Amino acid sequence: MSFGGAVDSARNGAGNGVAHSIQVRNLHKSFGAFDVLTGLDLMFADDAITTILGPSGTGKSVLIKHLVGLLEPDDGEVLIFGRDIWKISAKERYELRTRMGVLFQDGALFGSMNIFDNTAFPLRKHTDKTEDEIREIVMRRLTEVGLERSWTKLPNEVSGGMRKRAGFARALVMDPAIVFFDEPDSGLDPVRTSLLNDLILDMHSEHRGTYLLVTHDIRTARKVSDYVGLIWKGRVVHYGEADEAFASEDPFVRQFLSGESAGPLGMD
Ligand SMILES: Nc1ncnc2c1ncn2[C@@H]1O[C@H](COP(=O)(O)OP(=O)(O)O)[C@@H](O)[C@H]1O
Ligand SMILES: [Mg+2]
Repeated sequence: MSFGGAVDSARNGAGNGVAHSIQVRNLHKSFGAFDVLTGLDLMFADDAITTILGPSGTGKSVLIKHLVGLLEPDDGEVLIFGRDIWKISAKERYELRTRMGVLFQDGALFGSMNIFDNTAFPLRKHTDKTEDEIREIVMRRLTEVGLERSWTKLPNEVSGGMRKRAGFARALVMDPAIVFFDEPDSGLDPVRTSLLNDLILDMHSEHRGTYLLVTHDIRTARKVSDYVGLIWKGRVVHYGEADEAFASEDPFVRQFLSGESAGPLGMD
């Protein structure tokens, strides 16, 4: 099994006419003696949905935190719109973050704010828009995710699926060029997962942008992805178009994408 090919195919992506506003090169991250990311290379195609699949604890959330500038690499580069986000000033990094939306794993809503105020938060914080303008934008976003009648509710007064949708509305409220989703399907039953995946596809076709979604759920990946990357032991071991990955004869890719226990992948 060759792991070099994945890196090459990720690099080659630049040559085939696909633009990439996010590029990760040789990313290393350890916590103490524990190596999480061990030389991760990846590019994310603009205007497409890329899914990164990997088992729990493989560093998917750690990867997203590097991409949004919350964690600094031990080694390697994170390029967003062609700029290494750790070689620019904190102010520039902060401005860059206003062009990214993030749906965190747990929705990350403020518990003491209602759904309207949670969704309005980035606009109040980062823009000079008037409250009338904010109301117009927030209600449009909440309507898109089906929460127009729940805007007065606190996060703990609505279901997990509704919290995810509120987090999604908030992630999109600044019209971001890049949207990150950290396990949007976690904690949802299969029906709500499927509905949320439909919503992701609808919102992408409506607003476009570079979407990066990490998950361990193969059904989610199958449904929403244009491209898939597989991470294993801190590296990208396969990257390519979703149709090709799901039709792959490679025993490693097949085992990974079928979720079977028999095959070249072991527990260690
Ligand atoms: N801030 C941290 N300090 C120490 N260990 C961490 C930290 N963040 C993540 N880890 C560890 O790194 C590994 C990868 O974590 P994570 O990216 O959250 O995995 P997942 O793929 O499930 O999202 C886990 O073993 C986790 O315990
Ligand atoms: Mg995670």
